[in-house]
Amino acid sequence: MMTLKISSSKRDLLGVQDLAASEIQAILKLAAKLKKQQKAGTTQPLLRGKTLGMIFQKPSTRTRVSFEVGMNQLGGSAIYLGATDIQLTRGETIEDTAKTLSRYVDCLMARVYDHKDVEKLAASASIPVINGLSDAFHPCQILADLLTIQEYKKKLKGLHLAWLGDGNNVCNDLMLGAAKTGISMTAACPEGYGPLEQVIRAACREGEENGAEIRVTTDPAIAAKDADIVVTDTFISIGKEGEWATRETIFLPKYQVNSRIMRLANKDAIFMHCLPAKRGQEVTSDIIDGSQSVVWDEAENRLHVQKAVLCMLMKKAPL
Ligand code: CP
Ligand code: NVA
Repeated sequence: MMTLKISSSKRDLLGVQDLAASEIQAILKLAAKLKKQQKAGTTQPLLRGKTLGMIFQKPSTRTRVSFEVGMNQLGGSAIYLGATDIQLTRGETIEDTAKTLSRYVDCLMARVYDHKDVEKLAASASIPVINGLSDAFHPCQILADLLTIQEYKKKLKGLHLAWLGDGNNVCNDLMLGAAKTGISMTAACPEGYGPLEQVIRAACREGEENGAEIRVTTDPAIAAKDADIVVTDTFISIGKEGEWATRETIFLPKYQVNSRIMRLANKDAIFMHCLPAKRGQEVTSDIIDGSQSVVWDEAENRLHVQKAVLCMLMKKAPL
């Protein structure tokens, strides 16, 4: 897990750990430029003739639509490959699928359950592979989150981010993204629901280099106190639906982002959520639909950062 995968001919994005701090900055810079161009109607067809294959083992609204629209805007195209529509669910191996699709398309994006599946796909594909969410990581989401934070706060380094709730795929990669960009992050998660141990260790190391403090606590008040950014996600990620009865008693009401939590944060703190959200569970309606919430800009920025990643991986912009 979390190894930098570079070969002479291709580069993959399986997690934030695959990116150097300088590469994150380069992606954000290009994303901001592409966003400006899209608003001005001056988008260049940088990916004309290129095709993205999109494998989905799990449902998606934002990831699917933003990747497909992004490819279209850049002059390319995307093909939706639901795992049950292709031979994967009839026993064709991931390796054979990767080798076949590499002969047709120029880049693959995959949303999977087991992170090993996207690693296997990348290992056997001769084209770049992007993780569109696995049970362990969600790098595209974190790039969009960083762009959003930069837009609102005009900087990344020196900010304080509070994560409340499940230490899940989004939390894992956000911790690495924060550490790499100099954002101090405190994750408040119930005992046994924290981020991956190897992520905490890597983030602490990276944080030390970049002046960011990375902490994990079970106390939401400690995390939220004086935070510039308050972030949460569903308490029941895709595939965990059967755990709701147990999770409800563990997470609620303590880990919900509500007005009491937001009052502990800085007055100008922003609220973020990767979506989809469950109002009344991880966040109350007054917060997600209120003036501090930036969730719609965050969702939009998926489009812009992914366009930047696609251009870079398909070598139409330097990474
Ligand atoms: N945030 C996100 O990845 O949304 P989707 O599950 O709708 O793609
Ligand atoms: N943690 C959530 C993120 C959805 C975008 C999940 O895995 O379902």
